[in-house]
Amino acid sequence: MTTTTIAGVGRLHDSVVDATELPRIIQVTDNLYAAAFSLMKLLPARFIIDRAEAAGLLRPGSRVIETSSGTFALGLAMVCRLRGYDLTIVGDSAIDRDLRNRLEMLGATVEIVEYAGQSGGIQGARLARVEELRRLHPDSFVPGQYDNPDNPGAYAVVADLIGETVGSVDCLVGPVGSGGSTGGLAAALRPADPALHLVGVDTHGSIIFGSPDGPRTLRGLGSSIHPGNVRHSAYDEVHWVTAPEAFHATHELFRNHGLFMGPTSGASFQVASWWAAHNPDSKVVMVLPDEGYRYQSTVYHAEWLREQGIEPAPAPGGPVTVDHPLDAPSSWTRLVWARRGFGDVMTPEVHDLGDVMTQEAHGLGGPTTPEVRS
Ligand SMILES: Cc1ncc(COP(=O)(O)O)c(C=O)c1O
Repeated sequence: MTTTTIAGVGRLHDSVVDATELPRIIQVTDNLYAAAFSLMKLLPARFIIDRAEAAGLLRPGSRVIETSSGTFALGLAMVCRLRGYDLTIVGDSAIDRDLRNRLEMLGATVEIVEYAGQSGGIQGARLARVEELRRLHPDSFVPGQYDNPDNPGAYAVVADLIGETVGSVDCLVGPVGSGGSTGGLAAALRPADPALHLVGVDTHGSIIFGSPDGPRTLRGLGSSIHPGNVRHSAYDEVHWVTAPEAFHATHELFRNHGLFMGPTSGASFQVASWWAAHNPDSKVVMVLPDEGYRYQSTVYHAEWLREQGIEPAPAPGGPVTVDHPLDAPSSWTRLVWARRGFGDVMTPEVHDLGDVMTQEAHGLGGPTTPEVRS
């Protein structure tokens, strides 16, 4: 149906952040819906700064220090520019020239950490540098996206939006980095839908869900540290996807549905479309964190893909299901996490499944097996 009038729907936004921080909710297939953000990290950046202001932690001209090599840096730089705070971003080589240029145009100071020879890899080195800067500037504010509960807390408004537009949701699929978006959305949706099936999408080489630490071509999701905001017991299912599959899915999302999004959106779409196809009676919402413009000369560029030796390709036959993260092959892998703690999954001989069954008996746990029908 074509909308012929806009009377009554217009709203004057007080800033570009206010205008763009919320996703568009789009029906992609019969039972698959997208929460498509322009720049998802604007939302936690704005929310965390609001909360810090309310708590008296920021004054005009205050210094904000954060580590990020991606979209959280950009979101924070936009918010800090509009609110008049000095921002220092501690990142690594994943901050490409164009992103660095944008951050600096917004007035941010960008520090690149090169050294990875300590625990937690380059992410650990970045966090150590933030601590050093915090000691040098005791009045500064560190948003701390990995541990700050205001990161997941920012997504309650998106859960309301999904509730208003989609109604009751059976399954939520999203990429996991800090854990803020998937964790925050599930926490806000579950009071109404306790059985909501939460599927986290990660990549091989990320330690979040127990894969051994290693190099990662698919960036923006995954981590070499354990973010405090990843509450493992919230997840029903975890998938590890590879760069060639996720890049292929990113292209398919644009080719077939006109959604021009980044590679973590492709990863989310890869898993969500598989889940939706296998559960036709379930309503599935997938999180699509950012638009494709930042990736035009990489993920969308044939020459870059060739240089990296990556041929975007679908994973034939869907994921391989394993019982333990260390059994994951190097291809698309799925594990029924069943709302267990990290230790319960990694050392099941110590923390046997009895814990999960006890939780279920008390109505606390989610489904231990998804309704996959083929
Ligand atoms: C592009 C992109 N996708 C996905 C994520 C993961 O989201 P979250 O940190 O909420 O887990 C991030 C995190 O920075 C991101 O930048």
